Amino acid sequence: MGLVAPAARGLRGCARKDSKVAGRSKQSKRWLREHSTDAHVREARALGYRSRAVFKLRELDERYHLFNRGMQVLDLGAAPGGWSQYAAERVLPGGRVIACDLLDIAPLEGVHTVIADFTDAQAAERIELMFRPRGADLVMSDMAPNMSGQRAVDQPRALYLAELALASANSLLNESGCFVTKLFQGAGSDEFVRCLKGRFERVVVRKPAASRPRSREVYALAWNPKL
Ligand SMILES: C[S@@+](CC[C@H](N)C(=O)[O-])C[C@H]1O[C@@H](n2cnc3c(N)ncnc32)[C@H](O)[C@@H]1O
Repeated sequence: MGLVAPAARGLRGCARKDSKVAGRSKQSKRWLREHSTDAHVREARALGYRSRAVFKLRELDERYHLFNRGMQVLDLGAAPGGWSQYAAERVLPGGRVIACDLLDIAPLEGVHTVIADFTDAQAAERIELMFRPRGADLVMSDMAPNMSGQRAVDQPRALYLAELALASANSLLNESGCFVTKLFQGAGSDEFVRCLKGRFERVVVRKPAASRPRSREVYALAWNPKL
C-alpha cells in the first residue's frame, strides 16, 4: 500500500498473542528492509511518483496499450496516487481520472478524488453518477484490504473488493472499455476469472515484474464487455 509499512493490528485469541505479534513485527521489519532497498521504490521517488505500484500499471500499459488521450478512467484504491498520476499523464488533455480511496489523496492535476469506502453502496453510486452519460473507458482497481496475515480472512475480503470493482465496470464501461483489477490467487480467484471470461470478449491474467514474487497478487485484464 504505497510507501506505508503494514502495521501489526489488534489480535483475538490470547493464547497465541505473543507469537502472532512477534510474527507480524518480523513481517513489518522485513517489509521495511525490502522497501528501503527496493529499486522500484527508488525509481518512483526519482521520477516523482507516489508509489512503486505505478510500475505495475506502466508495465501492463506498455504491453496492452491501456490508455489513450481523452479517456475517462475510474481508479479504485488509488491512494497514495501512483496509478492516478500515471493515468492522468496518459489521458490528459481531454481525459479525466476519478480516484477513490478510503485514505486521503493529495491533489493531482487532472484527477478528481473521492475519499470514500467503496464497499458503501451509496459511495459507489455517487461515483458511478460522475461518469454519466458518457460512461468509462477504463475501470481499474488496485484495492487491497488491510491484511491480517490470515489467508482465510484476507482472501475473501480481497475477492469482495474485486467483485465490487467488477460490478462498477459492468455498469460503467462502454463497449470497447477495459477492466483491470488486482486479484490474489487463492480460494475463489479462478471462479472470478471464469466469471470475467463469461462477461468480456478477452481476458488475461498477468503478474507484472514489479509485483513482489512472494505476493499472491496478480492482475486480471478484461476488454470489451459482452452485451
Ligand atoms: C495497493 S494500495 C493502492 C496503491 C495505488 N494504486 C497507487 O498506485 O498508489 C491499495 C489501496 O486500496 C485501498 N482500499 C482498500 N479497501 C478500500 C475500500 N473499501 N474503498 C476504497 N479504497 C480501499 C487502500 O486504502 C489502499 O490505499
